[in-house]
Amino acid sequence: MPNTEEQTRQVGLSPATAVKPTRLIIDCDPGIDDAVSIALAVGSPELEILGITTVAGNVGIQETTTNALGLLAAFGRDEIPVAAGAHRGLVRTKADHRFVHGENGIGGVDLAPARRTVNSEHAVDFLSNILSRHGPRSVTIAAIGPLTNIAMLLALRPELIDNIEELVIMGATAGGGNITPVAEYNTWADPEAAQRVFTTVGLKIRLLELQITRRATVDQGVVATMRAESPRGDLLADMIDGYEDRTPDGQPLHDALAIAAIVDPTLIETRPASVEVNTHSDSQRAETVFDFGPAAANSNLQVAVEFDLKRFRELLIARVAGPVQGE
Ligand code: RIB
Ligand code: CA
Repeated sequence: MPNTEEQTRQVGLSPATAVKPTRLIIDCDPGIDDAVSIALAVGSPELEILGITTVAGNVGIQETTTNALGLLAAFGRDEIPVAAGAHRGLVRTKADHRFVHGENGIGGVDLAPARRTVNSEHAVDFLSNILSRHGPRSVTIAAIGPLTNIAMLLALRPELIDNIEELVIMGATAGGGNITPVAEYNTWADPEAAQRVFTTVGLKIRLLELQITRRATVDQGVVATMRAESPRGDLLADMIDGYEDRTPDGQPLHDALAIAAIVDPTLIETRPASVEVNTHSDSQRAETVFDFGPAAANSNLQVAVEFDLKRFRELLIARVAGPVQGE
């Protein structure tokens, strides 16, 4: 949708320097931090959201899809299509993440039923059809759940890789895990899919791994501000109240940092690396080994190594509180 001059001014860009919005598809498993990510995205004029695809992860595919539809309706953006994807990982069975995100995946918050129904296309067909309609390097995909849909897209339609401007992923860990001592949840849920995606040649990837995203926290002060700022903020605050992922510095909104890095790439600092996913072991399932050495200097994969927490929190509050784009 076009940006008005006022909208561009609101985000600190003068009309003359306003850039064309980034065309974005969000592949997700809502999920409380996924929900905050969608709220951030619909409040950001830098993004043109072409669609949301869902995958089984935090909760089952029916629930992640119902949550995505309900969130867009609650945010006044139910013109954005939602296409449902994989019910399970490529090879292994997995547990869901209800103990973190609640039984319904969004902290027990009841959303009004969405008027819009799920798209008739499978998520992989939806992704393929959108990419086919756009030219080279023209659509960004944010992958903030298990990578099953993305791996299937790359395997089924490799000729469309060139139309992906960038794949921004929340996943993997350069240190300890959050679902096992060695593995991060999204990668653990489908290790084979992650290996497929991380090793795809010619695909520009930015990776937000757990040791960075676990620091992308909101504390009670930020949550209270969000709650006071807008009905959207109030709804998200209710969800965050039910979010059982906690650190001494607050509750980490892993996925929201990935979206924030698309809205404002200067929020993060990255370095080239290669990543290997352990797909051969059960005890070390989905352990991810990073190589930042000289051999990875020309890697197509850029890994976040630092970010600005203050500016992340400021952006979150401003966009959750601000007008919904396309309203
Ligand atoms: O490890 C964090 C990831 O797992 C996030 O995407 C969160 O939504 C959960 O799915
Ligand atoms: Ca997620």
